[in-house]
Amino acid sequence: MQSSVQALRGAGIAGTGACVPERVLTNFDLEKMVDTSDEWIVERTGIRERRIARNGEVTSDLAAQAAAAALDDAGVSAGEVDLIIVATVTPDMPFPSCACVVQAKIGATNAAAFDIGAGCTGFVYALSMAHDLVAAGRYSKVLVIGAETLSRITNWSDRNTCVLFGDGAGAALVRPLERGDGLLAFVLGADGARGEVLTLPAGGSAHPASHDTVDQGMHYIHMQGNQVYRFAVRIMVEATREVLERAGLAEGDIDVVIPHQANQRLIDLAAERLGSPEKVYSNVARFGNTSAASIPIALDEASRTGKLKTGDRVLLVGFGAGLTWGAAILRWCKDEFHA
Ligand SMILES: CC(C)(COP(=O)(O)OP(=O)(O)OC[C@H]1O[C@@H](n2cnc3c(N)ncnc32)[C@H](O)[C@@H]1OP(=O)(O)O)[C@@H](O)C(=O)NCCC(=O)NCCS
Repeated sequence: MQSSVQALRGAGIAGTGACVPERVLTNFDLEKMVDTSDEWIVERTGIRERRIARNGEVTSDLAAQAAAAALDDAGVSAGEVDLIIVATVTPDMPFPSCACVVQAKIGATNAAAFDIGAGCTGFVYALSMAHDLVAAGRYSKVLVIGAETLSRITNWSDRNTCVLFGDGAGAALVRPLERGDGLLAFVLGADGARGEVLTLPAGGSAHPASHDTVDQGMHYIHMQGNQVYRFAVRIMVEATREVLERAGLAEGDIDVVIPHQANQRLIDLAAERLGSPEKVYSNVARFGNTSAASIPIALDEASRTGKLKTGDRVLLVGFGAGLTWGAAILRWCKDEFHA
């Protein structure tokens, strides 16, 4: 999908924030819960530990803290925000939306608010929407949040899935730029015909929650891991090539790559095929796969640890349930908002 919005102005990321729960669940903890081993998990996924929300801690709590940190980073007050988009597959409840709960929690009383569901690609989808709405002159301070508590939809007795996921949230504030553009190009895609390889079957109109759906574990993530793996390797490479072409750039023009943090093997393979392993940012060992939160958490870490320099060209690339994929190229220009 190519954005066809009539751009009146550029847009860029003016601040980022992240929040992960305090509780750490290590591979050694998992060894006591299912038939697995630290060695197997590290070798197949690169994950060593993940964060798990405590009882009562919900997606909007993590999202609100990440949002507050992004606002602080951008030097913008909650009352100035005019739109909140939350990408999530684990909202606090089907409705009201997680974005509306966040709006109330941070006191962004002048903001419109809605959620989008594009699986682990959600943040890239939301960022693309934020760019278009800001570039078209519709909104000026858009909070884009990726937030998940996947631990609530994980079957903790299924070793095929429970070792992979974690909880967390990341956020970015998108604002108009006086000159040039900060968000240079996007590619979004979907293949709904292949959606069955990664689903949460129950709780919607197809299978409303019932004793039966609970007995069958249909309220948990169901995944054909090897199918997702093959799709992910192919699509990360294809989406990257397409977004580079759209931006009129070559691989060598990219300074930092922030892929969806699903699995270190996947990240390594995609990086190898793209010929840029040293540019790839990874924190999957510490947080596991946090779905829509993974890219913004990594972006915030990369920013705060000085890995992102003004003018750097950053590639974001993700894939997830849907099946969906998305890639973005941005120019790191946070300092231009504080000049
Ligand atoms: C899930 C994944 C790590 C599995 O790795 P894999 O190399 O494909 O492993 P397989 O599925 O082929 O399983 C190999 C064996 O390990 C076993 N196994 C699976 N999980 C295990 C675990 N946690 N511990 C130990 N053994 C495990 C399987 O049961 C299987 O055993 P079998 O051969 O006796 O049946 C990998 O497929 C993957 O990362 N897929 C992508 C998942 C993803 O990113 N999902 C989110 C998308 S946003």
